[in-house]
This record gives sequence, C-alpha cells and structure tokens, in this order.
Amino acid sequence: MRRKIAAANWKMNCTLQEAEDLLKALNEKNFNLKDNQQVIIAVPFPYLLTAKQILGDKPSFYVAAQNCYNKVCGAYTGEVSVAMLTSCGVTHVILGHSERREYFNETNKTVGQKVELVIENGITPIFCCGEELSIRESDAHNRFVDSQIREGLFHLSPDAMSKVIIAYEPIWAIGTGKTATADQAQEMHAHIRNIIRGKYGNEIADNLTILYGGSVKGSNAVELFSEPDVDGGLVGGASLKADEFEIIINSLR
Ligand code: 13P
Repeated sequence: MRRKIAAANWKMNCTLQEAEDLLKALNEKNFNLKDNQQVIIAVPFPYLLTAKQILGDKPSFYVAAQNCYNKVCGAYTGEVSVAMLTSCGVTHVILGHSERREYFNETNKTVGQKVELVIENGITPIFCCGEELSIRESDAHNRFVDSQIREGLFHLSPDAMSKVIIAYEPIWAIGTGKTATADQAQEMHAHIRNIIRGKYGNEIADNLTILYGGSVKGSNAVELFSEPDVDGGLVGGASLKADEFEIIINSLR
C-alpha cells in the first residue's frame, strides 16, 4: 500500500531546548492517522536520541537523520555512519537534499552510494531530487529530474527500490515562499512515477511514495496533497512550528 507521509526537515535549526519544546509539543497532540499515514521528523544529529526518547512511543511517528556518509566506518572525521544511525534507533534518512548537493558537492553518484548503503542496513532513504529555476525556465526540468533518478537510483535491485521514498523539491520553491502549483507538482510526480514504472514495473511504481517539498504550509497542504501522485510533503520552515505542522499532518489524504 502506498504510504502517505508528512515529513519534517528541521535543517540546521533549533537549540537543544527548542528542539525538546517542539518535540514535546508534537508529542502532546493527538492525530487520527490512518494505517498508511506516517509522520517523519528529521532532526539535526545531536538531537536524534532526544527525538527518539520523546517520540519513540508515538504511533506512526518516526525519527530521521538529514544525511549520513557513504562509507561504512573509519577515519572520516566529523562524518556520521549508517551503523551509528541504526544504533540510535533511527529509521529514515534524507539523502541528496539540494542543499547538500549545492553546498557539500554531493553528486548523483555519491547520493546513490548512500541510498544503497542505508537500505542494506535497514534504514529507509528519502531520496531528494529537483531542478533549479533556470532549468525549469528552459523547460528542461523533466529531463533533469530523469537523470537525477537514473543516476541516483537505477543501480538498485527491485527489492531495494521498493523501500525508497522520493521527495521532489524544486529548488526555486525551497524557502522562497513560492510553492509549485498543485498542477506543477502533480505533473512532475506523475513523470517521476513513470520513470520508476519504466524500470521497475507497475507494482513498485504504484506503491512508491513521492513527497513534494518547497514552501509547503498549512494553507496549501490540502491542495497539494489532493493530487493523485502527491503522497505528502517534505516540509522545512513550516515544520518548526508545532501548530502549523499539525495542520500539514492533518492534510494528509
Ligand atoms: P521549505 O519548506 O522551508 O521551503 O523547505 C523545503 C525543504 O527543503 C524540505 O526539505
């Protein structure tokens, strides 16, 4: 069954105290989630255990990391391995976010290595893709996302692919307040599902969860999530306010 997901990406925000307050505020809220609906909270590394402690027993809530390294272990000062994440009870990880691609030189190849490694270790990757404004303006966005997916995911076995969550995040909509229209999101999500269908077949494509990210707010979530191929959102700024994120969670269809 296709999962419907509201995922929070806190990025590099919150002190420990603020993180605890936000996690507790979310934990105190009651959600009437259906069997296929989930909430994923991607917090900065230092708060993973705190998030597990506070949200650990909340039904359908999962804690995610925002990145990990593409090597198993060893002399890589400052990096975080998949085994470290599993040992902290982390179940999901965001990989290949556009900010990591832009500021930390991540490529489709390195992101693809990470995707494979985390799946081998039982963690669900949220694989991010999306084009910048100039690419959309030159009408090359479909081709661009196509190559991100081919180069980042097509080395996976069908079994591994069936574990991936994809997030389409057009860079021009991230943190800008300029959301893709529901039509634009639907068009790209259908395109992504077709790319996966072509390589992996109907069952994997139809069960694939594709999240939209880029200025999702309480006020636009219902419209976006009502599109047939938009299975929820990956939410930055609006996930830092418990009440706003609650509205987004309640907008899952
Ligand atoms: P905003 O919701 O702040 O636009 O961020 C989107 C995003 O990058 C989520 O990963």
